[in-house]
Order: sequence, then C-alpha cells, then structure tokens
Amino acid sequence: MTTASMPEFPAGFRWGVSTSAYQIEGATGADGRGPSIWDTFAHTPGRIADGSTGDVACDHYHRYAEDVALLAGLGVSAYRFSIAWPRVQPTGTGAADAAGLDFYDRLVDELLRHDVDPVATLFHWDLPQSLQDAGGWLARDTAARFAEYADLVAARLGDRVRLWITLNEPFIHMSLGHGMGVHAPGQVLLFGAFPVAHHQLLAHGLAVSALRARSASPVAIANNYSPVRVLGDSDADRAAGVAYDALHNRLFTDPLLGLGYPEVPGFDAGAVRAGDLDVIAAPVDVLGVNYYSPTGIRAAEADAPLPFEIVPLDGYPRTAFDWPVAPDGLRDLLVGLRGRYGDRLPPIQVTESGCAYDDVPDADGRVHDPERIAYLDGHLRAVREAIDAGVDVTGYFVWSLLDNWEWAEGFTKRFGLVHVDYATQRRTPKSSYTWLRDRIARR
Ligand code: FCB
Repeated sequence: MTTASMPEFPAGFRWGVSTSAYQIEGATGADGRGPSIWDTFAHTPGRIADGSTGDVACDHYHRYAEDVALLAGLGVSAYRFSIAWPRVQPTGTGAADAAGLDFYDRLVDELLRHDVDPVATLFHWDLPQSLQDAGGWLARDTAARFAEYADLVAARLGDRVRLWITLNEPFIHMSLGHGMGVHAPGQVLLFGAFPVAHHQLLAHGLAVSALRARSASPVAIANNYSPVRVLGDSDADRAAGVAYDALHNRLFTDPLLGLGYPEVPGFDAGAVRAGDLDVIAAPVDVLGVNYYSPTGIRAAEADAPLPFEIVPLDGYPRTAFDWPVAPDGLRDLLVGLRGRYGDRLPPIQVTESGCAYDDVPDADGRVHDPERIAYLDGHLRAVREAIDAGVDVTGYFVWSLLDNWEWAEGFTKRFGLVHVDYATQRRTPKSSYTWLRDRIARR
C-alpha cells in the first residue's frame, strides 16, 4: 500500500481512538466502585463465550500512563474513553465518590500533557446495579439519575474534557441488552424494550442541559448505524428493509434532530410524556457515528416474531466476528444521513470504526495485521468520499486502542491497534499501529 495515493483530510480533522471503561479498566473493586450490570452479567455462568469477566480486563486503571504514552506515540489528537458511572456514584445516586472521579481527573490531565483531547462518554452500558434493581432503563427515573451523574462529572472535568458524548449506542443497549438478552442486563423483552429507547433518549436530552450548565465544550451522542441492504425484490422485502432501517437507523436519530419518533413496527409510545420530545431535541454539536457493517434484510416468514429477517451478506471479506468488511457501507451511511436530515444534521465524527482479527505474535514477538490496515485504509477512503460528496465529517476514531474484553465474546475478539497479552498485560503495537501513526503524521 503506497502512502502516495492516500487521500488528504481537512486541516483540523480529528484523529482518535476509542475505548470503554468496562472493556479495559479492570480494578472493579478499587476505590469504592460499585457493581454495574456488566459485573453481574459477566459473573453469571453461561453468559460470556469464554467464561471471562472484566474484573481485570487490560488493567488500564493501573496502567493508564503507559496507555496514554501509546496514544501519544500514535500521534492521535483525541482519545475517546468512557467514564464508569459506578465509580462516580457507586449506587447510581447521591454525592460523587471522590476517589472514583480522581482516576478520570488523572487520566484527563495525562492526556492534556500529551496534547491529546479528552473525549468522554458518560454511559457505555455499565449502569450501576442498584439502578437496575430499581427498574433500570425501563424506569423513567433513571433518566433523571443520569442527568445528576452528568452534572457531577461535568463539575469536576468540565473545564478539560474537549467533547462530551452522552450515550454510546442506545440502539445496541436496547436491542441486545433488553430485547434479545445477549448483553447485560440480559432481558428478553423483544418489542417490550421500547421504553428503554425513550428513557435513554430522555436521559441524553436532560444530560445535554446539565453538561451545558457546567462546561463550554461541545456535546454529542454516539449512535450505531448500519445501512440496510435489502435481499429479494418483493414488496414485502422492501417493506422489511424500511422497517429495519427505522428501528436501527432512525429511532435514535429522528427525535434527536427534532423530527419525533419514526414509524417503527411494534413501537409503543406509552412512555412518552408531554414535553419529552423537546428535551430530546436539545441541539447537539456533533453526531457521533459508530459503523461496523451493513445489514442484509428480507421479509420474515408470516408467523415470525419480528417483521424482518436478518440475513448474511455474501461477497464481502469477513472479520473474525464474521462481520462483512464493507467500506462502501460507511460512505453510503454518511451520504445517506446528509440526504435524510439535510441542514438538521450537525457535523459528524465517526466515533467508532474497526475490526476483530485473530492476531497472534510471530516468533519474534511482532504482530502483523495486514487485514486491519486494509480495513482502516478502505474506511478512511470512504470517509474522504463522503466529504467530497458534501458531508461535514470532522473526525475518525478507531475502535480500539487495545485488544480488550469484548462483552459477550469475552477475550475472544481482538479489535486493538495494540496487542495485549492478558496473562502478562504486555502491550505490543501491531503493524496497523505503525501504519496509522505514519498515516496521521502526514496530516
Ligand atoms: C460497539 C461497542 C464497542 C465495541 C465494538 C466492537 O458496538 O460500542 O464497545 O464492543 O462494538
């Protein structure tokens, strides 16, 4: 791959990497942290592919300075991490736990010392277990609790965090956590999970004003998107595609951008109260876009529980997660968001993009991951094509800095630019790290 043919990005384009608290921090009992739904879920036999937990993960809580040095070596201008709510409020309510916040204080200062912008996500799925016991995201009160938590964090870090992200992928948290039960909290409610959508969006809107009251920094949400590829050419197939698109790609974006809820099959608006949609539509400065792959959809059988069927997409290379590698999907998604929302759309930052491969060190201890280099190259070109087509994309964050604990897959999926030997916690930058470092240095 020659660097000569690589597309340029606008001046000020934000290069970053992303992580999340439960996936890397470990130290789950340190400094007064309370349990989260992911501690409970991971410790329940049969839930995680390899039976592992995030108890130790990458031990980032103790090794953050080494990890910030890796970020600095990569030359990124931003680092997206998440703050563990149960470190700040061990039971999800009440005064802040000073020691828990101290950790993020140190992390933020270490980042700034290395000229890396701290980008903080407030909720990356690790709800305090006590709030789950009180109803979790099915309970409207959780939205108010989230705004209080946002206030506590902003009071401490609001002068130094450069971009706030309220929620990570509320669609995935609703669907996998509450609809299908494969993520924490493990509920299988199918369409009964819709209040989780509304309460998360309400939490987001309330947190936007809490953050603005304490911090001058821009505010965003990070949504997961997956462009729909309809397989089959019947009217029923096309209708299934429209239904899935509304559920995955519009449910968490239309109301955010002031359009109210889209028509989604089975959607129950029972949780929506007067005034909620105005709270949810509080303007954001940036839309965070997490993209991994498109989704193949066709009409479901007549008596199936869902009105669409998800089908594998042929003709693409695949990652170790068996996800298709489809950079064209990222371009189509970005251009499609602009087409759908027009001037309502704020600038976009791609807040997650990446791939898992079974990376192993060679005899010399080096880790070669040419597939990840090809993946990143293809997706960066897709971003450039979207910019050329008139979409305002101002940043790109790779998922992830480190190999880490991949939720229900445990340690079996490696997404890092840096290989982690979980037995020794030794970090080894992969060849993709060197490639990205050189790519960024050309800016
Ligand atoms: C996203 C999550 C992130 C990571 C990647 C692979 O859905 O936000 O934590 O698990 O997938």
